Amino acid sequence: MSQQQTPLFSGLLEHAKKNPVQFHIPGHKKGTGMDPEFRNFIGDNALSIDLINIGPLDDLHHPHGMIREAQQLAAEAFGADHTFFSVQGTSGAIMTMIMSVCSPGDKIIVPRNVHKSIMSAIIFSGATPIFIHPIIDPNLGISHGITIDAVEKALKAHPDAKGVLVINPTYFGISANLEKIVEIAHSYNVPVLVDEAHGVHIHFHDELPLSAMQAGADMAATSVHKLGGSMTQSSVLNIRGNLVSPKRVKSIISMLTTTSTSYLLLASLDVARKQLATKGRELIDKTIGLANSTRSEINTIPGLYCVGPEILGTKATYDFDPTKMIISVRNLGITGYEVEVWLRKNYNIEVELSDLYNILCIISIGDTKETTGILVNALRELTEKFLDTSHIVEKKVISVHVPDIPTLALSPRDAFYSETEVIPFKESAGRVIAEFIMVYPPGIPIFIPGEIITQENIDYIQENIDVGLPVQGPEDATFKTIRVIKEHKPFI
Ligand SMILES: Cc1ncc(COP(=O)(O)O)c(C=O)c1O
Repeated sequence: MSQQQTPLFSGLLEHAKKNPVQFHIPGHKKGTGMDPEFRNFIGDNALSIDLINIGPLDDLHHPHGMIREAQQLAAEAFGADHTFFSVQGTSGAIMTMIMSVCSPGDKIIVPRNVHKSIMSAIIFSGATPIFIHPIIDPNLGISHGITIDAVEKALKAHPDAKGVLVINPTYFGISANLEKIVEIAHSYNVPVLVDEAHGVHIHFHDELPLSAMQAGADMAATSVHKLGGSMTQSSVLNIRGNLVSPKRVKSIISMLTTTSTSYLLLASLDVARKQLATKGRELIDKTIGLANSTRSEINTIPGLYCVGPEILGTKATYDFDPTKMIISVRNLGITGYEVEVWLRKNYNIEVELSDLYNILCIISIGDTKETTGILVNALRELTEKFLDTSHIVEKKVISVHVPDIPTLALSPRDAFYSETEVIPFKESAGRVIAEFIMVYPPGIPIFIPGEIITQENIDYIQENIDVGLPVQGPEDATFKTIRVIKEHKPFI
């Protein structure tokens, strides 16, 4: 088969063209049983291929026909031995990676600034996390990746770990020396699992950081939907080498996947793979050019700084993806969050994210000079407005401060399943927490279930709440109370 072919999408079209009389789910039956307003909006084309795993259409759980062919083409395009399609997002692929290598009690080396799906998988599998502290950028207040030294130290102390998990590239587009990390981990026979949620495109352009498969990693959970042109929720899990068992991965991904897999999502993976494999280089080349010229323009605007290659050269900043525009607004004296709100209100612009000091704008293969021009104009006006109406917001100077990682008293799984009680948050120092608490920035979970609460961390959380940052996690969003492991006092 050639990369020009789309066996899954083409197979669905062929099936729909026959216009079969359907006595199977979905019960909307090509849209005729659906609310007309939604049906008209979505369109009959999409609804005609919103199908299910009937005989001619293969089955994601036991692929032997068009889905198998589409996955094989994807494996070839990504340089993997096997590719598994995920309709459970990259979260599902990440959970599969971890549960494929970890059994209860096993250790896994992970950076501390992990996505919640990683901690969920650690709880499900019963693994014990060995944390590596990511490097914090003191100028930007964001966390980068992990260093080679830290991986080496962690493996030396825990050579029995069942995996090393790396976020590569980070949300902000920064990548570590993944090839070297893989070399070190493999010298211990330990597989490297990559959270590649923000890097599907990097595989298809040689000026971008090395992809997980190019760097020799064993598994990668890759969001095709984020930057590769497929529909939201569709991702791939790529595997290679002989440190992980494809059979085990296949059975775990199946355990974690709905039996009603969306063929719209699956078909969109098939066509996105074709586009990336056949035109990816050309499209990404244009995207990089557009991002670089936008970056140069933004950097002529007084008060703004759009991060470029000068960020490279530290232990944690080995390479970067120029299509991620980290725009530091720190010198304007307003927070990134305030800029996000201003852009929404005044220019109908939605950014990818904001934090205390920055906004993050993603330039993708869907952008044009027109869209980036709107952003640059908006940023110009923002800075002009700020200069002559400095009353917009009061100036705030907040230092980047990250407390020590708390001590883990129980495995996250044991803590999650323990008997718990709710107590006042301010009085919780010394107790073992049963919930997650995360603060962005710098994107590091302050607490995961099983850790001992310290006064330093309580103060840090309060500090972040006071400056208006989104502190997330606990059942009680007001932070008056917190759920902790119940202590059984002796009877008198
Ligand atoms: C670093 C990282 N990993 C994993 C994920 C999960 O991806 P998905 O939303 O496709 O489940 C995200 C989502 O934002 C992410 O930022």
